[in-house]
Amino acid sequence: MEFRHLGRSGLMVSEISYGNWITHGSQVEEDAAVACVRAALDAGITTFDTADVYAATRAEDVLGRALEHERREGLEIFTKVYWPTGPGRNDRGLSRKHIMESINGSLRRLRTDYVDLYQAHRYDYSTPLEETMEAFADVVHSGKAHYIGVSEWKASQIREAHALARELRIPLVSSQPQYSMLWRVIESEVVPTSEELGIGQIVWSPMAQGVLSGKYLPGQPPPAGSRATDEKSGAGFIAKWLTDDVLTRVQRLRPLADQAGLSMAQLAIAWVLQNPNVSSAIVGATRPEQVQDNVKAAGVKLDAGLLKAIDEIVEPVTERDPARTESPAARP
Ligand SMILES: NC(=O)c1ccc[n+]([C@@H]2O[C@H](COP(=O)([O-])OP(=O)(O)OC[C@H]3O[C@@H](n4cnc5c(N)ncnc54)[C@H](OP(=O)(O)O)[C@@H]3O)[C@@H](O)[C@H]2O)c1
Repeated sequence: MEFRHLGRSGLMVSEISYGNWITHGSQVEEDAAVACVRAALDAGITTFDTADVYAATRAEDVLGRALEHERREGLEIFTKVYWPTGPGRNDRGLSRKHIMESINGSLRRLRTDYVDLYQAHRYDYSTPLEETMEAFADVVHSGKAHYIGVSEWKASQIREAHALARELRIPLVSSQPQYSMLWRVIESEVVPTSEELGIGQIVWSPMAQGVLSGKYLPGQPPPAGSRATDEKSGAGFIAKWLTDDVLTRVQRLRPLADQAGLSMAQLAIAWVLQNPNVSSAIVGATRPEQVQDNVKAAGVKLDAGLLKAIDEIVEPVTERDPARTESPAARP
């Protein structure tokens, strides 16, 4: 494994981190979840990402149990707050009340006294940013989180939050956006602003939820057990990528991966790590063998010719519009 600083902070994270959205507490049974976490640890992954909302809070529980007997100082545990965790109108968003309640629930489920990074899972247009940042400051100053991050915030929102964080003396160090060969919306605004402010990207769905592994073939039913067959939640999220145009172009990447001596999954993960503002790529997995495949992308350098050839193939199906970095206009 290779390690990078999280933005300009002193915190080191593994280049590849393990995330448990859709899988833990939902798509996969607990023994498979624990086996994936074990494989991640064995491969040198130290950074783990979850959220209060995943599998209606069960994902944090599963991760907490899986990591319970590890040396806490050897791990970086990240979680998030914003999406609904209960039926009440205050069980969501970034109000002071919900942040204070949610961090306590997350720590209980994760079986830890603190998280390394606490992230705003979206921007909350119905709470003053000052209220959110002051609540985050209290979370940090009480020792329940060491660093603060945001997810899917626009460049202007990151800039405003960063200024408040400086005033409140808390470290806002990260942004967690979707980023892959097929989704490059952060490149024109979020990345330059983040570079200027010392904020690093921890990117999600670097494999476009498994699509860039090449296992979904145009015109064919999805492979058994894959996310596209998970009617509980995965199938709905991955559907947007399962078009013949995308899948045909993804198959055209296969010879490029072969030539570079990489699996297609490794090529996809290595691709996001070529961006120096990316601190870590968060990868999901349903089986330990996937983790073992994916971690080999750490430290891989892709040459300019290969990057250009990838661009030429995927450009027509790649999204680049910075306006696609968005949060719900009203609380969900
Ligand atoms: N901040 C946010 O709003 C946000 C949103 C989404 C995700 N995230 C974070 O990002 C993490 C990763 O997201 P993601 O799971 O969508 O990422 P991903 O790495 O693009 O996709 C992971 C999925 O692809 C399949 N896969 C993984 N390795 C494979 C391999 N080597 N070969 C073939 N298939 C493979 C597995 O699904 P199957 O085996 O089921 O096909 C796996 O669950 C999440 O766990 C979460 O921590 C954050």
